[in-house]
Amino acid sequence: MQNSGRLLELNNVSKIFKIGGLIFGTELRAVDKVNLTISSENPVIVSIVGESGSGKTTLAKMILRLIEPSEGQILLNNRDITQLKKADELLEYRKTVQPIFQNPFAAFNNLRRVSSYLYDTAYSICGAKSKEEANKMISEVLEAVGLSFEKVIGRYPKQFSGGELQRVSVARALMPRPKFLIADEPVSMVDASIRMNIMNLFKTLRDKYSVSCLYITHDLSTAYYVSDFIAIMFRGNIIEYGPSDLVLTKPLHPYTELLMSSVPRVDKKWEKDIKLSGIEVKEYESAGCKFALRCPYAQDICKKSRPRVVKTKDGREVMCFKYEGKKYEEE
Ligand SMILES: Nc1ncnc2c1ncn2[C@@H]1O[C@H](COP(=O)(O)OP(=O)(O)OP(=O)(O)O)[C@@H](O)[C@H]1O
Ligand code: SF4
Ligand SMILES: [Mg+2]
Repeated sequence: MQNSGRLLELNNVSKIFKIGGLIFGTELRAVDKVNLTISSENPVIVSIVGESGSGKTTLAKMILRLIEPSEGQILLNNRDITQLKKADELLEYRKTVQPIFQNPFAAFNNLRRVSSYLYDTAYSICGAKSKEEANKMISEVLEAVGLSFEKVIGRYPKQFSGGELQRVSVARALMPRPKFLIADEPVSMVDASIRMNIMNLFKTLRDKYSVSCLYITHDLSTAYYVSDFIAIMFRGNIIEYGPSDLVLTKPLHPYTELLMSSVPRVDKKWEKDIKLSGIEVKEYESAGCKFALRCPYAQDICKKSRPRVVKTKDGREVMCFKYEGKKYEEE
């Protein structure tokens, strides 16, 4: 693929946090040399799935420029986002990438009308010159998310349900006509009954408005339902990546297998079933495969060396020694 066909490209991106005291403290590699490419040719939904503490939010925050990577490069339309300094470059970035946060009620001040946020975005980011122009922009995006101008204008956050307010957040994010939404657990705080409505909205935005989405979640079932590609994160690494149906119906990585076997019921936070916090630190610090302490297929080499990312013949990427060699690897 030509470089020009890349909307987002992460090259060996890491985030190292210092934890504990200055003297006795240690370093935590919350995101560890992550590579990920999202094409600009066709809009796609890519899910990042992983248990609590696997580095999903840290990765999203780096792409949103909320924190800086410790290592590596994040390119958006071939530009390194950490190097953007000029006002027009930053505005362009803000127009291209928009966040959707977990808690819609936290995104709006209870004492401000919800519409005031939409007008702010219309004037400051989208360059609306008059109230009429702003109204037109707002009506269009509200319609895109299935809400009406009349229903939203003049009302306060408490007068909306969580699902409606999350739709308003999405409408606001859509105003600058972004190419890319980053949605970190966008439905975990809305009623289970309307989660699928919001997930369908992301599909509509992809198909009708050509907006790609990075959907971050604990929830394998919504990830399976909504996404074209899935990246499974474990201890800061993407350990398996590929088309979502392949990854979730025929998992390659032993950790993906474990996840699949621990999704017993809708709405159950499966991270609680599999989290073994006692060995968490050991896993992060391991010189070998971070999953070796729990892996039923672990060999001696797994404890000593870190597996590389193997590109498989069926179009996946997997970080596991089991798949190194001619049988699985792409020629
Ligand atoms: N500012 C920080 N300082 C130190 N450590 C941090 C900081 N932010 C995150 N971490 C650590 O980095 C690791 C990854 O955290 P992160 O929030 O990215 O995980 P997550 O996958 O989003 O988890 P969750 O599913 O619970 O939201 C965790 O061990 C967390 O404690
Ligand atoms: S590299 Fe070894 S320990 Fe790690 S997941 Fe693969 S088989 Fe298991
Ligand atoms: Mg998180």
